[in-house]
Amino acid sequence: MSVCCVPHTDTHRCMCVPDTRPARTPTMKLHMFLAVIWGAVCAANVSPPVVKISLDDPAEKRWEPLIHVFDKDFLRRAAAEVIDSIVPKWVHDALKPVVRALEKFVPQPYAGEITGMASYYESDISDVILLNFAYEVSAFCTSIVAQDTKGNIYHGRNLDYPYDVLRNLTIDILFIKNGKVAYRGTSFAGYVGLWTGQSANKFTVSGDERDKGKWWENLIAAFLRKSSPVSWLVRETLEEATDFQDAVKRLAKVPIITDVYYIVGGVHPGEGVVITRDRGGPADIWPLDLLKGAWYRVETNYDHWLPAPKQDDRRDVAKKALNSTGQNNINMYSLYQVLSVIPVCNSITIYTTVMTAAMPDAYRTLIRKTCTN
Ligand SMILES: *[C@@H]1O[C@H](CO)[C@@H](O)[C@H](O)[C@H]1NC(C)=O
Ligand SMILES: *[C@@H]1O[C@H](CO)[C@@H](O)[C@H](O)[C@H]1NC(C)=O
Repeated sequence: MSVCCVPHTDTHRCMCVPDTRPARTPTMKLHMFLAVIWGAVCAANVSPPVVKISLDDPAEKRWEPLIHVFDKDFLRRAAAEVIDSIVPKWVHDALKPVVRALEKFVPQPYAGEITGMASYYESDISDVILLNFAYEVSAFCTSIVAQDTKGNIYHGRNLDYPYDVLRNLTIDILFIKNGKVAYRGTSFAGYVGLWTGQSANKFTVSGDERDKGKWWENLIAAFLRKSSPVSWLVRETLEEATDFQDAVKRLAKVPIITDVYYIVGGVHPGEGVVITRDRGGPADIWPLDLLKGAWYRVETNYDHWLPAPKQDDRRDVAKKALNSTGQNNINMYSLYQVLSVIPVCNSITIYTTVMTAAMPDAYRTLIRKTCTN
């Protein structure tokens, strides 16, 4: 017998129930082993609510399930708080007319989804657009892709933002197409892009900000030139890419509105990479290199070929933790533990996701409350 922990949609807490099925296959045994372990982890941290978004519904209708999870007033207040903390007041005022004009530049399905979101929550559509752009900046993160000695690929990420309220807005989303899960991801209510996601049995992807001094003007100018917000490209790649190689190609090449790091994990040995992006294309591609002993790659928010700044060296702390874990001990749980070491996990860490595309049901997100510097 084992314990199975799943996020409970109403209380947003882990609900652990005994699983009495006999463990027949190695996969089932592994699942049960993981369930027991997550049972313990779950006790301290909380899984976000899971929301099903049907891509078979018209774009305007898709996000309706959110209203069963989030109270209208709460979501409106939360959105205002995020916008106020990310966007300086004068920028907000100056941008309003620009953002309103942007409306007609937003491509489908995002335009429809944003319109729908604004109507469910009775919000100004320009605020919902602004909210969707606001998250494109100021995310600090750590992503790790690693391969164990048997050739399994694991991918984990911490998402750091200095806004407390995002803990309450975090959701795991199952995107449904033709009645089946087409891909999944972790995001914030009100946001149509993804920074973290998985296409089952194909690949996993996460994005980390690459800070080059962000200017709203630049973002918007690039957007008007039809470049994609970085989180929309993640979603499109999850939706369309046929495998790891195809995903890497798209994430490396498609023009985006700001620099970013994309971290991608696959299902076959060697399928792990950090893509350093300029807006127009790849600045660098940094794959796993098992022959040279590079069984993991760590990306925070700095180019990997430069030293990490002394005042924010999450990179070397993570590497040290991975080194002491060892390639023969890396798995979903030990990767989660690496992502729990302070300051890799820190006071602004909102959530941790660990995933492995070859075992899609193992996808786990936990909201962080307990990491303090
Ligand atoms: C946010 O979530 C925490 C628990 O996870 C809860 O105590 C708090 O009241 C929530 N805040 C809001 C505004 O819902
Ligand atoms: C981790 O191990 C590698 C290979 O042995 C070594 O080159 C590197 O310096 C170690 N890094 C840290 C931070 O301990």
